[in-house]
Amino acid sequence: MADLQLTDHVPREADDGVWLACIECGESFAPFDTVRYTCDDCDGLLEVRYADLPTWEDFEDEGRGVWRYHETLPFEEGVTLPEGDTQLHTAPRLRDDIGVANLRIKHEGMNPTGSFKDRGMTVGVRVAQEVGVDRLACASTGNTSAALAAYGARAGLETLVLLPAGKVAAGKIAQAALHDARILEVDGNFDQCLDIVQDLAARGEVYLLNSLNPFRLEGQKTIGLEIMEEHYADHGEYPDRIVLPVGNAGNTAALYKCFRELVKAGAITEDQVPKLTGVQAEGAAPMVEAIQEGNDETRRWDEVETIATAIRIGNPVNAPKALPGIRETGGTAVAVSDEQITAAQRDVARQGIGVEPASAASVAGLRKLRRQGEIDADESVVCLTTGHLLKDPDAAAEAGRKPEPVPNDTDAILEHIDDRSSVVETVRRQASKAADSPLIPLVAGGLGAAYLYRKLRSKK
Ligand SMILES: Cc1ncc(COP(=O)(O)O)c(C=O)c1O
Ligand SMILES: [Zn+2]
Repeated sequence: MADLQLTDHVPREADDGVWLACIECGESFAPFDTVRYTCDDCDGLLEVRYADLPTWEDFEDEGRGVWRYHETLPFEEGVTLPEGDTQLHTAPRLRDDIGVANLRIKHEGMNPTGSFKDRGMTVGVRVAQEVGVDRLACASTGNTSAALAAYGARAGLETLVLLPAGKVAAGKIAQAALHDARILEVDGNFDQCLDIVQDLAARGEVYLLNSLNPFRLEGQKTIGLEIMEEHYADHGEYPDRIVLPVGNAGNTAALYKCFRELVKAGAITEDQVPKLTGVQAEGAAPMVEAIQEGNDETRRWDEVETIATAIRIGNPVNAPKALPGIRETGGTAVAVSDEQITAAQRDVARQGIGVEPASAASVAGLRKLRRQGEIDADESVVCLTTGHLLKDPDAAAEAGRKPEPVPNDTDAILEHIDDRSSVVETVRRQASKAADSPLIPLVAGGLGAAYLYRKLRSKK
């Protein structure tokens, strides 16, 4: 079982108070002496550790976004576009409809490349510069490749992305292409792409920037810091629960690390840690399976399928960090159907917030758990929406209202819009009658009525 306890011991490998610790065997490593993704001794996952952990006062007067929290990061600044400082939306109709005391939506789709991946890349690409590599690579369901392409371009480094052929949303491929990454389309799924890119990294051919790279998660933990700070400022308390989509379980691991560090620093107490609640698609739910069966490891799902291509992942590499995160915080994990994901995508969109399908899984999961009584009506919940609507225009078009072909003619279009209310209809008739009259006072009245009519129609 992974040991995620943060201790006061600073090993001699620490460099300026930063080191890497193996979560399986406890071995420590210098952070930047060589390129290393997992433990030399046991191949366990590594975690970045710090001698000093900051608290809220240390972030004051530090600007906004990921680098506001540089005291919790290995560097003062990174390769930045800049990222973070995303909206924590309210969603009152959805809150009432789902039936929780408070609902906020942390929209990570508002990052520079439209997903939370930017937070990890600003740190990860900075580390790549530190260790002195020139070719960056990742396997991706799409968003990681878009972020890596952009941050790689910013840093002037060569970038390779391995994508599962035919399973990546159009917006994401367009981003990777325009930011000039080499896009290698693999005849296989995401997990197989990750196997290959790990091989390439092990052979020293590329620097791996998937979330297996522990520095990526350092950037991503700032999602938790922003949520906690803003929620406390707005509501005088921290959220009871954070619900998030789960693919490789990087964010789940990153948020848990954020909370462990805040507790260790004395910034929050154990019982103020939000319950981490993971949501997967039914067709790709190894984390949910492990939570429900009480397993310490996930079983690799070889066949995965879901409309939410971003989380079409069968072998979540961060499970050893994320499973304890869900359990220790008192959270849970739930699987939702593609239909529930699409319905949630519409629900969120009708609050004016545009998200891609994987992101909507968080809201679908909240609704399902609330209906099952696993989430209480008095809870304050934050749903994480991880990617922007425009990432997957095909899914959005499919989920949304269909365009209506109409003739190129105003009257015909008015004829076509047949759902006018009787009030609007009456005003319209008065307006058109007045407009036809030769009498000036009536024309003036008609103009007033026409104005009122336009106003009423624009409100529809
Ligand atoms: C939009 C979106 N949501 C969720 C995820 C899954 O995130 P994680 O791998 O951190 O669980 C991804 C990443 O693949 C993603 O692109
Ligand atoms: Zn080890």
